[in-house]
Amino acid sequence: MKLLVAGGAGFIGSNFVRHALTRWPGSSITVFDKLTYAGNLENLEGVLDDPRVTFVQGDICSPSSVSAAVPRHSHIINFAAESHVDRSILEPDAFVKTDIEGTRILLEAAKGANVERYLQVSTDEVYGHIPAPQRINEDGPLRPRSPYAASKAGGDLLVNAYHATYNVPTLVTRGANTYGPYQYPEKLIPLFITNCLEHLPLPVYGDGMQARDWLFVKDHCNGIGTVLERGQLGETYNLGASHEWLNRDVVDAILERSGADPSLVRHVHDRPGHDRRYALDTSKARALGWTIETTFEDGLAQTVDWYEDHRDWWKRIKEGSFKDFYAAQYDRRLAESLP
Ligand SMILES: NC(=O)c1ccc[n+]([C@@H]2O[C@H](COP(=O)([O-])OP(=O)(O)OC[C@H]3O[C@@H](n4cnc5c(N)ncnc54)[C@H](O)[C@@H]3O)[C@@H](O)[C@H]2O)c1
Repeated sequence: MKLLVAGGAGFIGSNFVRHALTRWPGSSITVFDKLTYAGNLENLEGVLDDPRVTFVQGDICSPSSVSAAVPRHSHIINFAAESHVDRSILEPDAFVKTDIEGTRILLEAAKGANVERYLQVSTDEVYGHIPAPQRINEDGPLRPRSPYAASKAGGDLLVNAYHATYNVPTLVTRGANTYGPYQYPEKLIPLFITNCLEHLPLPVYGDGMQARDWLFVKDHCNGIGTVLERGQLGETYNLGASHEWLNRDVVDAILERSGADPSLVRHVHDRPGHDRRYALDTSKARALGWTIETTFEDGLAQTVDWYEDHRDWWKRIKEGSFKDFYAAQYDRRLAESLP
């Protein structure tokens, strides 16, 4: 297999490159990544020395870079995206550009290069809020409520259109909230772990009663690998662990594991349009033989330990442009919060 991994220097993409090298030892992998604020070659430490891996710095929104990189690959996986809901509320334009237009440019190149499989990595957020006790399957309506989710849904629809219209051999996975090593510390779990380790306040949105289905990154990568191998072309597969936790309970679990002081918790103004609950029916992916191997308790313990052991990695990030984002997102909220 000659695999092109777009967005392979980000959180899930870099974990997937490691997974792929073990799962398909005879493969060669091109990591194609723009290295935005979220991309980081340190995420690929130990992997870039592997003779099977090549790194290309490139933008999926650039037709010339993409059409130079895609030929000679049999499989394409697209992780490349703007991926943070809060940033999409502050600056939606980059999301529409990368997550929709960038996807179209990759699909166009896949069409011309006769690839065997193109897999689009998408998200459960495209379904919007799911009332309890419902779980949504792949035929459920798309009701995205943030610019991020709407842009990802637009990408999914283009993928399906390229399959129906041009017979591009596509697959889509819609993963649940993912956590684990190498996640940029803007997202809930790594933000709160690293704030605990620095004795900083933990800004919990609203009442903290939002429910998410937490998926450990290794299980997510295994799901993507399974769909790439065995999924039926033109189909979409939900990937979730059915580990439904309220945000406030996740925060309590992080406090307990890291030994931080519970008085760090601050309830702050909620995110606008914040979905209350995501919940996936994953029977279609499980019918391919995919199983979840990590409990939430075990995955969270591994993740807290990883951030404790990799302080240099996240401190470098938090001391850079992250500071401006954090100030824009949280300074006012924290100033107006109640202890
Ligand atoms: N993190 C989650 O909880 C989660 C859950 C489900 C699905 N997803 C999806 O999985 C994918 C990866 O998510 P992540 O959390 O690893 O994101 P991330 O933000 O950590 O990584 C995104 C990567 O894409 C690269 N990138 C961004 N724009 C690019 C462009 N124009 N051209 C080339 N590369 C570009 C970045 O440099 C970065 O390396 C995304 O498509 C996301 O929507 C994420």
